[in-house]
Amino acid sequence: MPPPNRLAVVVLAAGFGKRFRSASTPKVLHPAAGEPLIGHVLRAAVGLEGLDRLVVVVGHGRDRVVEVVRARRPDAVFAEQLVPRGTGDAVAAAGDALRDFDGQVLVLSGDSPLITSRTLAALVDKHRNSGATVTLLTALMEDPTGYGRIIRSPDGLQGGIRIVEQADASPDEAAVQEISTGFWCFEREPLFDALAKVTTDNAQGEYYLPDVVPLLAADGARVETLLGDRSEILGVNDRKQLAEAARILRARKLDELMAAGVTIEDPAVTYVDMGVEVGPDTLIRPLTFLEGSTRIGSDCTIGPSARLVDSDVDDGAEVSFAVLKSAEVGPGAQVGPFSSLRAGTRLRARAKAGSFVEMKSTTVGEGSKVPHLSYMGDAEIGDGVNIGAGSITCNYDGEAGIKSKTRIGNRVLLGSDTMLVAPVVVHEDAITGAGSVVTKDVEPATVVVGAPARPIRKRKARAGDH
Ligand code: UD1
Ligand code: CA
Repeated sequence: MPPPNRLAVVVLAAGFGKRFRSASTPKVLHPAAGEPLIGHVLRAAVGLEGLDRLVVVVGHGRDRVVEVVRARRPDAVFAEQLVPRGTGDAVAAAGDALRDFDGQVLVLSGDSPLITSRTLAALVDKHRNSGATVTLLTALMEDPTGYGRIIRSPDGLQGGIRIVEQADASPDEAAVQEISTGFWCFEREPLFDALAKVTTDNAQGEYYLPDVVPLLAADGARVETLLGDRSEILGVNDRKQLAEAARILRARKLDELMAAGVTIEDPAVTYVDMGVEVGPDTLIRPLTFLEGSTRIGSDCTIGPSARLVDSDVDDGAEVSFAVLKSAEVGPGAQVGPFSSLRAGTRLRARAKAGSFVEMKSTTVGEGSKVPHLSYMGDAEIGDGVNIGAGSITCNYDGEAGIKSKTRIGNRVLLGSDTMLVAPVVVHEDAITGAGSVVTKDVEPATVVVGAPARPIRKRKARAGDH
């Protein structure tokens, strides 16, 4: 009877990452295109049909790796490798978690973020269809430096394969361009039997996973290889490879967006994280950074020079030369040039945050404008409001150390350089004169001037008002 078609995935993520020289962060948690390296590997694994069990081998920086994996895959099981003694030892650490598992075991390197579900599925298919005990994904590299070389026996006989690590390779072996990618499909039982026989007799004194291949072959097991696409196998061992991987991931993301109808003026200088969504017919101009969970609607113009982090921009809005963090921009709204919208900023439909404007925890109502040189913090601005140049909310009492709120009613007109000393309410239809220092609430439709501001008259109705 053929083995059942159940699949377990083991992700290796316990290594120290020496070549990364990171004092603070485990290698697999370094981000590329806004997602930790291991997140990319998990994404490829999750796309696999019939995935029955996901085991992540953790060690160095264990708690942080567990947290990041759990946030993406709550069903993941963790196996601990207390001391990183090599990839063979790491897979052996997953043995207990798979003891009762009957099926194929797909082993993935947590530091290889370019792999796709499609290639992994092809690896599993080839393994199953050929009835192999182990199938390894290989690739042809122009420069194979750093990878394990595939050494095939001269007679080309099936099973006559060894993998020689960089550190152990003779000059002849090092010249071989076919490499082991670190992606494997195994039958569970023979895998763990062979792992028990692996030794540390090599240049690095480590238990090498690749050493199971000749051991299995010696037992008469069938060894298969699948030649993969070199663009998917980059293993990130150092910061240079991290930058390279990030570049490739970003290019893939931009290709996807363009295929979905987004115009990207210059992909070489456009930076979009994996988790970002952009609607069709939006134009992304150069030097734009879309990060985290940012969502952009359709028919928007974003950039040049915009950085949006975890922000939402609705259809038809324009953002240029601006920084937005956890901000919301309504349909047809305008931002920039030169604005900073901080957490909790919400521009409603057709609102405007213009030049040299900073906002924080502020809502700007429909069609309201904050065009020039303003700071609006902890403010609620109604519809149809105009904030004169240089106006600010004095929302922080430095002496008491407290922040207070400002409320500005519908259709209020603030004269240039109005200081709103919070807490304060400027009721609807009120007007402040240039240079007003508003320390008390302003009654509806009332004009106030001076410092401190005092009422001088009622507001005149404008032509068209009724
Ligand atoms: C490994 C392979 C090499 C292959 C290359 C592909 C071995 C011995 N070498 O080399 O043949 O060409 O990947 O990228 O397998 N890890 C642990 N515990 C350990 C050691 C490593 O969990 O004790 C994890 C690492 O966190 C990493 C992965 O295993 O995610 C690969 O380890 P790494 O040290 O990067 O292996 P390479 O030298 O790149
Ligand atoms: Ca590696």
